[in-house]
Amino acid sequence: MRSISIVLLMLIVSTFAVDKNNFKTCEQSSFCRRCRKVQPGSSPYEIIPNTLNTYANHITADIRNNENQHVFVLKLEALKGNMFHFEIDEKSPLKPRYRVTDALQKEPTYESIKVSSTSSEITIISGRNKAVVFLSPFKIEFFQDETLVTSVNSRGLMNFEHLRKKPEPPAGEQEGAEGDESKIDPPEDDPGAWEENFKGHHDSKPNGPSAVALDFTFHQANILFGIPEHADSFALKSTNGGDPYRLYNLDVFEYELQSTMALYGSVPIIYGHGAGATTGIFWQNAAETWVDIAGISAEQNVMSSIVNFVAGSRQSDPPSAHFMSESGIIDTFVLLGSNPNEAFHQYTDLTGNGKLPQMFAIAYHQCRWNYNDEQDVAQVVAKFDEHDIPMDTMWLDIEYTEGKKYFTWDHTKFPHPVEMMKNLSDVGRHLTIIIDPHIKRDSSYFFHNDCTDKGYYIKNKDGKDYEGWCWPGAASYPDFFNPEIRKYYADQYLLDNFKESTIETGIWNDMNEPSVFNGPEITMLKDNLHYGGWEHRDVHNLYGQMQLVGTYDGLVRRSGGSLRPFILTRAHFAGTQRYAGVWTGDNAAEWSHLEMSIPMCLSLSVSGISFCGADVGGFFGNPDGELFYRWNQAGAFQPFFRGHAHIDTKRREPWLFPEDVKLVVRDAIRKRYSYLAFWYTMFYEHERSGLPIMRPMLSQYPLDKNAYALDDQYMLSDKLLVRPVMQKGASKVDVYFPSKNGEKQGDIWYDIDDYRKIERVGVESVSVNSYKIPVYQRGGTIIPKKERIRRSAVLMQDDPFTLIVAVDENNTAKGTLYIDDEKTFEYRQGKYLYLDFEFKDGVLSSRYIDETAKFSTKTWLERVVIVGLNKTPTSATLRTSDNKSTQLEIIDVKKTSFVIRKPGVSMMDNTWSITLNY
Ligand SMILES: *[C@@H]1O[C@H](CO)[C@@H](O)[C@H](O)[C@H]1NC(C)=O
Ligand SMILES: *[C@@H]1O[C@H](CO)[C@@H](O)[C@H](O)[C@H]1NC(C)=O
Ligand SMILES: *[C@@H]1O[C@H](CO)[C@@H](O)[C@H](O)[C@H]1NC(C)=O
Repeated sequence: MRSISIVLLMLIVSTFAVDKNNFKTCEQSSFCRRCRKVQPGSSPYEIIPNTLNTYANHITADIRNNENQHVFVLKLEALKGNMFHFEIDEKSPLKPRYRVTDALQKEPTYESIKVSSTSSEITIISGRNKAVVFLSPFKIEFFQDETLVTSVNSRGLMNFEHLRKKPEPPAGEQEGAEGDESKIDPPEDDPGAWEENFKGHHDSKPNGPSAVALDFTFHQANILFGIPEHADSFALKSTNGGDPYRLYNLDVFEYELQSTMALYGSVPIIYGHGAGATTGIFWQNAAETWVDIAGISAEQNVMSSIVNFVAGSRQSDPPSAHFMSESGIIDTFVLLGSNPNEAFHQYTDLTGNGKLPQMFAIAYHQCRWNYNDEQDVAQVVAKFDEHDIPMDTMWLDIEYTEGKKYFTWDHTKFPHPVEMMKNLSDVGRHLTIIIDPHIKRDSSYFFHNDCTDKGYYIKNKDGKDYEGWCWPGAASYPDFFNPEIRKYYADQYLLDNFKESTIETGIWNDMNEPSVFNGPEITMLKDNLHYGGWEHRDVHNLYGQMQLVGTYDGLVRRSGGSLRPFILTRAHFAGTQRYAGVWTGDNAAEWSHLEMSIPMCLSLSVSGISFCGADVGGFFGNPDGELFYRWNQAGAFQPFFRGHAHIDTKRREPWLFPEDVKLVVRDAIRKRYSYLAFWYTMFYEHERSGLPIMRPMLSQYPLDKNAYALDDQYMLSDKLLVRPVMQKGASKVDVYFPSKNGEKQGDIWYDIDDYRKIERVGVESVSVNSYKIPVYQRGGTIIPKKERIRRSAVLMQDDPFTLIVAVDENNTAKGTLYIDDEKTFEYRQGKYLYLDFEFKDGVLSSRYIDETAKFSTKTWLERVVIVGLNKTPTSATLRTSDNKSTQLEIIDVKKTSFVIRKPGVSMMDNTWSITLNY
């Protein structure tokens, strides 16, 4: 018999910790070791004189490595929207080197250039931007309006390992000195140059050393950020003395916080920001990549809160980043900003904007590994109603399948999947099911047989179907890089094929790094082979995204092109936002993981991926009541809001906690629903502008150095400031109210719960009870809400709106509202309403932003809350577009707010106004 104390001891000992031994350090990775060994200051690369060619939009020139005389070609071009792009490849490689496809949404638009040159430099001018290429040593400096903002290879860390023939094994001692030259090629020094072993896995490296590396300096920056995905602060830290930030899509079990270790996704975009400029570097490479960060002072390294952030402090060297990739070419976009939002926009202009999801997808999702059977699902759904907690989507993890064979159901547990889905959709709810990329090697499984017969699996180095180990046991992996295979895969989602699904079923693509339980670092061998003969090494970080391309295509075709697909993915790369939302993977039920959800989602947001969230409650472990409700409160203000839990955790549906906890959770989820109209409008505007939904404070306050590194609070669009409670037992939290000019000039803020007015720049310690989520509406904004909370978002579609008008110092405010059918693509044919609200001189007015857009809606305006005016009017007059006037009552008069009762105007009315009467 097992004594209780042993069980307790086991619980205590099993604190969460990643097994670091499963994953390489830079020192254990041959190419990282080689690239990191390059010393600054003595770059052997130089432009060969008289090789400059000038074209309308670009130049080319040859570069030579003086140590081995190998020749490369530089191509540098100007792009529309204040960007440059350059590539460096071998002039005549032994075989072609991999170039990333499918990250960019389309071919960029080029800009004309003016070129002049001297014996030491080439100057390329494009509008207000300029690039100066220095010949020897090779270096590029980028200027905007004559200010040096970014430079390339100014530290001299460039390394381009040309492809070469494998040296003959030294068959006896060669006497002659001539043959020795190739042997002293630096990469050959490294024992891992031609083959590498890690934890019993062998990488045959038939192409030998092929790394590319380059340094970038951000001359105007105080802070560097970006390069998700890492469980680390938003502000990147100096990697001096530790490992570089690693970008290599990996399934990391129980990941560690404050770490540069790789996680599930890799987006190689980095930004530097300072008061004078924001610039970005998009390093377009899908191979394993490490990034060293330098020029960040120790004070900045420990800043995760403003308390220990030394404003503007910086070492004498400006911040810089050193990118090191295992293969491919140097393929880099230089984004010249000049402010944060412009830089974010440049990046999404290249890689695409996240698409407007269906309304249900931004409401609350209920997941667990696993909801066991149909009865379980039905009971959980019924309990949400019984406890009056809204919920839009039930999720099923891997156990719903027959033996982990995707596109099948376990009919013992789920005998009526379609009926189950219909029961959900009857009350406006959805079902999302998991479909992973690993395919069970089972001769009774059609998918496996098709892939085997047609040669659709990724091959090992000998050309045989690669076999790994994952949830189903022996598994193989479709090669999504082949368009024919993607088409086959997409077809499997069609209802003719996947009969036990509906056009509404959401899809969750997990384990797509890909995860291989018995592979090196829990993933695939690098010498595996893909379509086109490319090694897995070349394309690894792009694999998950290619699965999403197939899934997205399948879901669009499944509904005959009518419904917007809902897909969630774990792996991600540059451009993933075009297909799916991303969650931050397998976190833990710990306060520190709750805190980490904000920097992780902020880093993803500035990297194009706005539809982001963390498992609410924590995936591993059991949250206590306080952690559970605080996490629901934080999740209610993050773009993707889903409760999820590991199979070994205790059940944790809200009603299983004590009543007081349940009530707080219910309040938080209902609050989310009250703001869905605002979320939906933000997602629509994100599709139009590409700007992040969840934004770091610096996006709105680029001059306030104290706000740069903040990652326990953030903005939603430019309207709400969110600072959730994330500390155990907190009765107060520090909220930082930022400065507009870097000094004392700030915005006015209003607490969204009681409209308390805050006029300060700096920290305010705010009291918080259990229900409190510190969120502030910026004065000068108008936010739409719906205040009749129903079981699901879908059921709230026709409900009336409330507008919260919060005025600035001039008693003015502006805002928008987007309305459509909340599910189809018809909005792209102009079936929507996009309204602009303005409050000025005591008049609130509405007009269509897109005059030609039309949408028929039953929604109307139920209430207007005016916040922050000193004087309360006696009444108000509504004037509608048919020129009718109606007198409206003023009610609920409080210190800083009053309500205009029931204007009743239809949201379809294209020009109405409400005038306050004094
Ligand atoms: C669907 O709902 C009906 C009516 O409540 C119920 O009888 C049936 O068992 C449900 N089916 C499933 C699969 O949950
Ligand atoms: C208020 O008006 C003044 C004068 O037009 C302007 O300078 C200031 O920026 C305005 N304030 C806000 C918050 O827009
Ligand atoms: C609307 O009413 C105003 C004032 O009552 C009047 O001047 C105007 O001509 C009217 N416009 C229409 C289109 O009836």
